[in-house]
Formats: sequence, structure tokens, C-alpha cells
Amino acid sequence: MKKIGVLTSGGDAPGMNAAIRAVARAGYHYGVKVYGIERGYQGLLDEQILGIDQRSVSNVLQRGGTMLRSARCLAFKQPEVRAKAVKILKKHGIEGLIVIGGDGSFMGAKLLSELGVPTVGIPGTIDNDLAYTDYTLGFDTACNTILDAINKVRDTMDSHERVNIMEVMGRDCGDLALHAGLAGGAQAIVVPEQPMTPKQVLAKIMEGKASGKRSSIVVLSEGAGKAESLAKEIASMEPALDVRSTVLGHIQRGGAPSMLDRRLGTLFGEHAVKLLTQGIGNRIVGIKDNKIFDVDIVEGLSIKRHFDKEMYDIANMMAK
Ligand code: F6P
Repeated sequence: MKKIGVLTSGGDAPGMNAAIRAVARAGYHYGVKVYGIERGYQGLLDEQILGIDQRSVSNVLQRGGTMLRSARCLAFKQPEVRAKAVKILKKHGIEGLIVIGGDGSFMGAKLLSELGVPTVGIPGTIDNDLAYTDYTLGFDTACNTILDAINKVRDTMDSHERVNIMEVMGRDCGDLALHAGLAGGAQAIVVPEQPMTPKQVLAKIMEGKASGKRSSIVVLSEGAGKAESLAKEIASMEPALDVRSTVLGHIQRGGAPSMLDRRLGTLFGEHAVKLLTQGIGNRIVGIKDNKIFDVDIVEGLSIKRHFDKEMYDIANMMAK
């Protein structure tokens, strides 16, 4: 393979630039020309394709977002649209593609592989919702952003003896809430995998209060409810509590990637290029037990997510 493309698709994630940089630099090392495709699959259809070399990716390692920009492209679900994409890749002499994104983007990658364009996926999403890999790119940075917010909110909650319901992202996956909640000392962690009624959340808060806690932080995953309505419900059940809510929103998707995400992006990028140079496609790369590996796309995506109940129980044990 002499020419390969790289694109970022779906929600951006800190560390995507580290992966793009690694693709460009590994491409240089292995002697393949790398093309950056802007705005994901949509940019491919619009032929927003630019040559990138080892210098084009200087000074991006430490930056959040994605230098190639990203988009969600629903049209890519149509076979005729994908056929057009293959034609465009052929026209530019691009023989293999690296797709950095989540499960939706990987489906596109699989379908392109079936059409004869070897495609390799790199898991880039803050949600950590891909079961085949221990971590996705951006998850660690997003957890650290949430932790920073928890620390700040806790300062003021403690001064005023308040409760704060902090809503974090994660779509249908509670990992951001679970990991940041455990590390941030949440009094309760509410995730879609382990539903709690407002009454149960209140009971946890009151348990802390009874043991002398002045304030409480509840970390709520967006897939398990809305912070404002949970805060209202709790306040209506226990009017003596001063309950506030915070929605962290897109702040969780930005910022300089952590060391872990820069390392992951770099190792994923190099591995993906190596696969393509060997003519291997239809794979997604991941990390398991601290080792970079790759797996067939369909096989990887069919692995069921396992909620870490043990970690959840320990987080609860700590909230005493
Ligand atoms: O998948 C990443 C994610 O940030 C989710 O956590 C969140 O639900 C969603 O994307 C938000 O998407 P958008 O940026 O399109 O509003």
C-alpha cells in the first residue's frame, strides 16, 4: 500500500490529534503517503482530502479536538453513498483508510472494507462504550475534566452545606460517571446500568449527612436522567436540603489530552498504519491488559459491554 487516508468521525475526543499525528509519522516511517480527510465521511464525499506529511502534524499532540474536524454522516448508511465514497478514494489512489471514531463510525469502516477498501478503526470517544477495548481515546481526559469540576463544585457545596447533582456525558454508558464518581468521592453514582430511584439517591445523601457530612456530590450519567429534575425531586422529598444541579456538557469533550490519551493515540495510530501496510483491513485496534491489539470489526463490535459492578460496589463502600 502506497497511499492511505485518515479521518475522524462522530463526536470528537481528546487524543484524536495524537492519533492523526501518529498515523502521519508512522506513514512517513513505513513509506506510505498519508491523506487527511476532513469532516469525517461527509468530507470524504465532498472530496475534502489533503496530503499530510510529518510536518503537517507538528504541535498538535497536546491539542484537544481534531485538526481534521469531525461530523456525523447519516447518509453513509445508504449503499449508493458508500459506493460513491469508494470511487472517490480510488480516484485519489487511496488504497486503505483509518477511521477514528465510535461504533457508528466503525460500521461505516466495516462496509468500506466489504467494498474492497481495507479499513482500520481506532476507538475515539469519551464514552468508553466499546466493550472490546479496555479504554477508548478521550475517556481518561474526560474523566480528569469531570474530576476537576467535582473538586471545584465540592469547595462551594461544602461552604454552603449543599448537595449537587452533577450530570456527565456517556450516552447509554455509565463509565464516565462510574470512574470519575469513584475517583471524585461521589456520595452516589447514578448510571443506566444500575438504576436508582430518586428516593434511593436521597437515602444515600441522608446516610452521609447522618454520619456528619456537610455536603454531597451525586454524579449522574446523562443516560440515567436529568440533573435538574433529579435535584428538584430530591428537594421536594426533603425540603431541608439545599440541592443544586450542574450539567457539565461539552466541556467534557475538550481540552489538552492527558498523558494516557496521548500515549494511547500514538500507539493506536502506529498499529493501524502497520496493519494497512501489510494489506490488513476490516480490523479495529484496542488495548487489553495494557497491550495494543486488533480484532475483526464485527467480532469486536459484537462483544457485550460488561458493567464493572465490583468497582461500583467499592465506590458505594467508600461513600460512608
Ligand atoms: O459520544 C460522545 C458524546 O459526547 C456523548 O457522551 C454525548 O451523548 C454525545 O456525544 C453528544 O453529542 P453531540 O456533541 O452531537 O451533542
